[in-house]
Order: sequence, then C-alpha cells, then structure tokens
Amino acid sequence: IPVRLTLDPAFRVGPVRRRTFGSFVEHLGRCVYTGIHDPAHPTADADGFRKDVIDLTRELGVSTVRYPGGNFVSGYRWEDGVGPRDQRPARLDLAWHSTEPNTVGVDEFMRWAALAEVEPMMAVNLGTRGVQEALDLLEYCNVRGGTRLSDQRRANGAAEPHDVRMWCLGNEMDGPWQIGHKTAHEYGRLAAETGRAMRMVDPDLELVACGSSGVAIPTFGEWERIVLAEAYEQVDLISAHAYYWEEDGDLGSFLASAVDMDHFVDSVSATADAVRAHKKVDKRIHISFDEWNVWYQHRAESRPPTGHDWPVAPVLLEDRYNVADAVVVGNLLISLLRHTDRVHAASLAQLVNVIAPIMTEPGGRSWKQTIFHPFAQASRYARGDVLQVAVEAPTYETARYGDAALVDAVATRDPETGAVALFAVNRSLTETVTLEVDARALPGLRVVEATTLSNPDHTWSATADDDTSVAPRRNATAAVRDGRLTVEVPPVSWNVVRLG
Ligand code: AHR
Repeated sequence: IPVRLTLDPAFRVGPVRRRTFGSFVEHLGRCVYTGIHDPAHPTADADGFRKDVIDLTRELGVSTVRYPGGNFVSGYRWEDGVGPRDQRPARLDLAWHSTEPNTVGVDEFMRWAALAEVEPMMAVNLGTRGVQEALDLLEYCNVRGGTRLSDQRRANGAAEPHDVRMWCLGNEMDGPWQIGHKTAHEYGRLAAETGRAMRMVDPDLELVACGSSGVAIPTFGEWERIVLAEAYEQVDLISAHAYYWEEDGDLGSFLASAVDMDHFVDSVSATADAVRAHKKVDKRIHISFDEWNVWYQHRAESRPPTGHDWPVAPVLLEDRYNVADAVVVGNLLISLLRHTDRVHAASLAQLVNVIAPIMTEPGGRSWKQTIFHPFAQASRYARGDVLQVAVEAPTYETARYGDAALVDAVATRDPETGAVALFAVNRSLTETVTLEVDARALPGLRVVEATTLSNPDHTWSATADDDTSVAPRRNATAAVRDGRLTVEVPPVSWNVVRLG
C-alpha cells in the first residue's frame, strides 16, 4: 500500500523541547525500592542507588523526572524522608496499601537526579496538606540558607539549594480515588493560593495545576475550565494524564490511541484559550502531559494488597510490554511532538519496574522493555524544530475512535545541521506500507540511517534473558531519489528514518 507524506520546513510547529522526554519516579511498588535504590546490588553507591539503572536512564534519554508521586504524594509527609535515616518513621501509604520506610526522601532523590543527569520535577501534597506544607518543602529545597528549613537541608548534607524549577500542585485531584479528592472549585482555589504563596518565595517557579486524569472522567473539560478560571494567573501549565491498553483483543483501536491523545491536547488547549479570552489576558497556559503510557490497569498486578497486608515495595503494576505496546508508545510520542506548541513538558509514567521501560531484579539484572526503544530513539534524534508531516493515507475503521489513518508521522529538523528525523508508525495489522515521502522542499538529503521495530509476532515481550532479539533493526529499503524518500514499513511497526 503506498502512503504519501510531505516534508516541508514551512510546516514548523515549534521547537523540540527536551522536557517532552521526561519520566516519573513514584514511591509505588518497586519503582524506588529495588528499582532505582537497592543497597544490596553490586553496583549500588553509598546511597544505595543502582549504577546500572542510572546508566539505563541516561541511555533512555530522560530529561525531567517527576517525584514522589502520583497518588502517593497525596498522603505524603516529606519531612519523614529527610535527616538521619535511623530516625525516619515507617508510614502507611494509603494510595498503594503499602508501608513506606522513608529510606529514600527528597535529598536522596536529588542526589540520584544529579547522577542520572535529569531535572527534578517535584509534586506537593494538596490531598491531606495545603499551602503551609508546600511552602515548607519549597523553603527546604530552594532557599539558600539562614532559615530553619534551609539550614536543616544544609545540616542534612545539601549545602547548595536543590533549586527545583518545576512544581506540580498536587496530583489527580479530580479523581475520586485520590486522597483528599476535591471539586474543581475547591481545588482551583487551593491551587491558586498555593501557587500565589510559592511565588512569593520565588516568582520564577514553573507551576503545574492538576488537569484531568483522563478524557473519560465525567468532569473532563469542565474541570480544566473551572480550575483555570480560579488559578490562571498563578500557574503556567495544566497537567494531562492518559493511559492506553489493548482491550478485548481490539488491536486496531489500541494502535490508534494517539487519536485520543490528540483529542485530549486539542480539547485542553481550546479550554485554556477560552478562559484566556474570557479573562482578556495575553498569557497562554501550556500542557504538562505528566503521566502517559500503556498500562493494563485491569490486570491483577495493578491491584494493591488489602486487609492487614501492608508490604514494603510489593510487586505492583509490573506490566510486560510487547511489540504492539512499543508501537503505541512511539505513536504517543509522535502526538506529543506534533503538539510541541502546546505540550511544554511530558513524563512517561513510570521509569523503573512500575509500568516502566526499565526493569530490575532485586540485587540482580536490569533490562529493557520493548517500549524503551521508541522513547530512546525519539529522545536521541528529535532535534531542532518539529515539522508537521502531511500524511495522505487510507483509513481503517476502529471501534473506539472511528476512522483512523493507517500511518501516523512527525518529523524534526535541526536548522543548524540540516539533520532530519522522520518518525512513523504503520498501524496496519497485516499490510506492509510503502512510505513515499516528498522531501523536495529540503534538497540534497540522503539517508543516514533507517530503522524499524517490528516482529512477525507483535505479542513478543522482552525478558531479563532476552531483551535484544526484538529491537530497532536497520531498514535497508530506505532510499532517496530526486528529493523523494521511499521506505517500506511492515505491519505494526515503529520506524525512524534519519536524513542528512
Ligand atoms: O502512574 C500510576 C498512577 O496513575 C499514579 O500514581 C496516578 O497519578 C495515576 O492514576
């Protein structure tokens, strides 16, 4: 099947933002304990952080890491996690029905972030707590010294401030499952007052208000309108969270998940702009898509323990991803990139073990899931400007999203080097597609490298024993003639063509 694409530098959407390639570390399951932190591991440093996981985080190309939750943050007392470790209390974590030992807290996380070369993005607890505790944490993290909490940080070993720029004002406060769940009015007021006070400490903070935890939640749209009506002046970004999974064997709909993400971003942008028009201000609110991924939420591994069982770091949300999941993750990255004018930050949820690209065995091996590859490639090769790609493709019918294009694509172009990267997915379950890319507006381009991630069995998943036999492989069909690139892409595939 031939599919026509057009690449043109005139189709610039905006810059590639490094913050699009963020991730997320929550105190949940084995993300922190036996994930990034495992003192018994042979590569562990003095803090107990696994060097192999730090190396994989760097290879993944992660820019920011959101911390410490997630649902966890809505019951978290950050003070429990600082100071001498032998004096830190164990607490109930109500969100995940676990015991939080508080071995890792803010200072450890900041040391880990420095080693992993990622920017920390902190969330404050607006579930069980409020303005004062958010200010306390900000003082502890960002004030140079000479106050009780900043001096406490210094005494705890961090002479320099952590200088956290991006702060989430709570987590998923629209969700009835959230500890301290609020109405949009209640939350909007609290976010506004917390933001106002935090800006009295530091006017340049970048603040993220909670948006919706999914498009299917009944308050979607109205939540954003009310929250922004209350907090427009005090925040810079509004969050979006979306998880996708293959349901009832409907792979066609699942592969079209990016249609839903496009709709999510477009709807929140329109709502934010409607509030802007009503307020008659110049400032625009952008989107922090700070939780997104494939997540099989209904599987047993996603259910927390119950009753008197409050384990430390139980196995939770440890989804095993197959090739189709990786293609969807790649397509979601295409959606985030093409919205770079509105999506100014994003976080793949999560980083290690919990719905994660990186898996670990306690004290043992670490390995890459299939979803590692599209993220690492997009982070490494997306440079310069994002270019909208015009796609003329046949459509197929999906039960969830109506007619969806067989192919989706986006490109980036570095204006300094001229290097172009084309990212494309083939959503067909059965057909190889020939991409015919008109690149005459970018003369002189040649193929630098073309790779494809696919497998005749799209249900193939990596394991600790084999995480390499299905990975992006050279696609030898790519060729440029007379300014036109052609490349054959197999069914259910993620493809990267680099031109230069
Ligand atoms: O990422 C897993 C969970 O999903 C987070 O804790 C929560 O914010 C969301 O519902």
